[in-house]
Amino acid sequence: MSSLLAYCRTGYEADTAKELAQRAGELNLYGYPQFNAGQGYVHYHLYNSADGKRLAQQLPLSSTVFPRQLVAVCETLDELDKADRITPIVDAVASLVKVSGPFGRLLVEHADTDAGRELAKFCRKFSVPLRQALRKPGLISQKENLHQACLHVFFTGFDQCQLGYSLAQFPAAFENGICRLKFPPAAPSRSTLKLEEAIVTMLDVSQRERVFRSGGRAVDLGACPGGWTYQLVQRGLFVEAIDNGLIDEALMATGQVQHFAADGFTYKPQMGRVDLLVCDMIEQPDRVAKLMGDWLVNHWADHAIFNLKLPMKKRYECVESAISQLEKRLQKLKTTFTLRVRHLYHNRDEVTVSVIRGEIE
Ligand SMILES: C[S@@+](CC[C@H](N)C(=O)[O-])C[C@H]1O[C@@H](n2cnc3c(N)ncnc32)[C@H](O)[C@@H]1O
Repeated sequence: MSSLLAYCRTGYEADTAKELAQRAGELNLYGYPQFNAGQGYVHYHLYNSADGKRLAQQLPLSSTVFPRQLVAVCETLDELDKADRITPIVDAVASLVKVSGPFGRLLVEHADTDAGRELAKFCRKFSVPLRQALRKPGLISQKENLHQACLHVFFTGFDQCQLGYSLAQFPAAFENGICRLKFPPAAPSRSTLKLEEAIVTMLDVSQRERVFRSGGRAVDLGACPGGWTYQLVQRGLFVEAIDNGLIDEALMATGQVQHFAADGFTYKPQMGRVDLLVCDMIEQPDRVAKLMGDWLVNHWADHAIFNLKLPMKKRYECVESAISQLEKRLQKLKTTFTLRVRHLYHNRDEVTVSVIRGEIE
């Protein structure tokens, strides 16, 4: 294995490449990125072939910003015969299993681009006979087993695929790295899916239980028309919704929402402190990160989930600068925080940040 394959949003290849180079360098694992703009994935080739495995072992997907999936690539199969693609794939997987042991799961995937989506129907259909062919000789487990590595077969054309794996300790949660969610018809805006994806993918079960305790309180800065407030209300929180705009009437009718037409940069919580601060204001990332830091450092909020809107250029650098200033402030406090930054499937030109406080003093 000598390369790590990262799926990303189309147009974000350069940002993904910069991030992989930086993270690999921090681990003293050196290589170079390879990608074409708009292709929806990046390869990071390692100079030392043994380093590919090390990088996969030391780089959890959840610790990265732009990659949607991280796959340690073992083999590229070209010029697959359309009459029998299965035999060469099974043979290659058999060699791989001799070294790695059997896989617990199979994902047949493609890039999230126009060209990639042309392969979607084929990948879906092909996964059925391929799974059967891999199960017969025991190359993948009979039932899905999330405690074993996941085998990825990533098609880049009808006759080309890459074989690789993601490790069980850093599970590949979704096919193609895409978290599909059903739009709740009662939600006032599609933005609701951004916060829902953040809650279900960035927080673990115990964090969710702590953040969304029954009868808890939240502040939503830049709340209108109310897609994020809707998620908080659904999870039992009482919400102070801050925005000069109009908020959804059905949300107000729940009795769980107070609407304040105020400036999110000067607003303070009604009772001095809330469980959760969320913020979706369209503002400079540095300014939003500073505001979030003020709320967390002064303990006006225990936890925070917020979006940083990205500029057109130097997006990775922009995220780094905003997050590092926030981290520096949090590191001075006695409590520990789990900070994650992810470019979610439902985000466009923005990333979502979750900051979950450890033990509450
Ligand atoms: C992207 S929208 C928020 C959408 C919302 N999260 C939802 O799910 O419906 C951004 C909102 O931030 C509000 N906003 C921008 N600057 C603000 C400020 N300084 N104070 C309060 N609200 C602000 C805007 O009025 C706008 O409604």
